[in-house]
Amino acid sequence: MTILVTGGAGYIGSHTVVELQQAGYDVVVVDNLSNSSEVSLQRVEKITGKPVKFYKADILDREALEDIFAKESIQCCIHFAGLKAVGESVQKPWEYYYNNISGTLVLLDVMRKHNVKNMIFSSSATVYGNPAFIPITEECPKGEITNPYGQTKGMLEQILTDMQKADPEWNVILLRYFNPIGAHKSGTIGENPNGVPNNLMPYITQVAVGKLKELGVFGNDYDTPDGTGVRDYIHVVDLARGHVKAIKKIEENPGLEIYNLGTGVGYSVLDIVKNFEEASGVRIPYVIKPRRAGDIATCYSDASKAKRELGWEAEYGIKEMCEDSWRWQKQNPNGYAE
Ligand code: NAD
Ligand code: UD1
Repeated sequence: MTILVTGGAGYIGSHTVVELQQAGYDVVVVDNLSNSSEVSLQRVEKITGKPVKFYKADILDREALEDIFAKESIQCCIHFAGLKAVGESVQKPWEYYYNNISGTLVLLDVMRKHNVKNMIFSSSATVYGNPAFIPITEECPKGEITNPYGQTKGMLEQILTDMQKADPEWNVILLRYFNPIGAHKSGTIGENPNGVPNNLMPYITQVAVGKLKELGVFGNDYDTPDGTGVRDYIHVVDLARGHVKAIKKIEENPGLEIYNLGTGVGYSVLDIVKNFEEASGVRIPYVIKPRRAGDIATCYSDASKAKRELGWEAEYGIKEMCEDSWRWQKQNPNGYAE
């Protein structure tokens, strides 16, 4: 079976290509490299010992996509391609809506023209907004989304749901990720943010490697055990394996399904700092700062539906997540840049 992986050179995409190749799938990657480097795919090839078929193309480029679908016998698409920086999306809403919404609409149109109607979509726990209940099940109502990035996830979920309803030949799996961190055990692929990281783990690893002075902890007055924000961190390799399980589900023609991919365990910012220090042996200096706009106190999943229906469950704990994030950062202080 040949799987098209859009955004396959990126953080989650590259780890997913590894797991797909190791599970015996043929993979075709499309990425415009706007937030990634082709080096990640060379490293994937080293890990799996298999070549990765790569097209440097934009999903907004209909002709390029037509060409790829004509050449390759694609049966299913895992769609990671998109812009994902929350703060930047507030500054550049048009760019986010155009890239994420229009890009996906072009991709979906080319897919249906080629009669490829199997789609696994990267969504986010951000669609739950400030969650109505914890742990969050897939039944939890969608909440108020506070930024254009999150809006694109909510809108694309709706577009895919409506298309599947209108044409039941479509199989659509919406995967709602909690907070992916960690890296492949080899330390050769990992998260490679542009500029100063917005997310917690890459910020911590850059402090550890000496690129940043200290961590700012955004608020210690939340209604949580230690006052700092609580999240459901999930190892990126576990997340990647969730996609392989989703492909197997797609083969059963499920129609539309939604799955949370998380561990079901919440850790605070200070828990992460402590676990990272233990895993790395490096002290992480931090200062308490005001709350970050748009943040919520607590967010963690009930991922039992994925366990029941996909036979998937996260295997790695916080120790491995911290060790593997650190190995990647230590071995690649400048990411994929030489
Ligand atoms: P990433 O930026 O590393 O990967 C996205 C990839 O898509 C990049 O390689 C980028 O170059 C590519 N891309 C962007 N626009 C494109 C376009 N128009 N045409 C072709 N390629 C394009 O991000 P990631 O962390 O790997 O996230 C992958 C997906 O998962 C994204 O859709 C993201 O929104 C979603 N997601 C990520 C997280 C997270 O914490 N990392 C959480 C929830 C959901
Ligand atoms: C953020 C996004 C979410 C997106 C996810 C993955 C917001 C409001 N939400 O989630 O939409 O899907 O990233 O890309 O941006 N923290 C610090 N100091 C830092 C960085 C983070 O204290 O320098 C804290 C945050 O306040 C939060 C926790 O660490 O409590 C995790 O933050 P982060 O990694 O940015 O993820 P989320 O905010 O959960």
